[in-house]
Amino acid sequence: MKKAFFPLMALAIACSTIIVSCSKDNEEDVNNPNPGGGGGTTCDTVDMRYTANIQPIIQSNCYSCHGNGNASGGISLGNYASLKTQVDNGRLVGAITHASGFSPMPLGGAKLSDCNINKIRAWIARGAQNN
Ligand code: HEC
Repeated sequence: MKKAFFPLMALAIACSTIIVSCSKDNEEDVNNPNPGGGGGTTCDTVDMRYTANIQPIIQSNCYSCHGNGNASGGISLGNYASLKTQVDNGRLVGAITHASGFSPMPLGGAKLSDCNINKIRAWIARGAQNN
């Protein structure tokens, strides 16, 4: 009885090893494109519009200091006309790209994502329209 036990155990271990490696293979087969995870995902900069695309970026990142009646540094970005002023004098792009000679914005916060910066640039390249 005692001698038969070991081979049985070895067989059981071998079987479970096969099962484990099989289920591991299945896990690796699962496709994970990481949707919306930033990094390698694409950034849509086609047909950027003030109301639909640009204003929401400014609102969530800048209005705490430059919108809703706030004008830090004398600068308001709370509506199209005031934002357009900063586009036309070059300060908007200088500030969000952290170009030298400009105060890096958002002040004290993380730089906007490359995608958001590209969206703003694409909108400006098409004339920064009030659309
Ligand atoms: C925490 C407050 C705060 C936030 C958030 C913030 N700003 Fe500012 N911003 C300031 C202050 C204060 C100044 C004026 C002093 C300075 O230039 O450092 C300023 C200045 C600026 C200027 C003029 C820069 C220059 O060099 O002339 C621009 C343009 C600007 N901000 C745009 C933005 C944009 C766009 C965002 C959002 C992406 C933003 N700011 C977010 C506080 C803020």
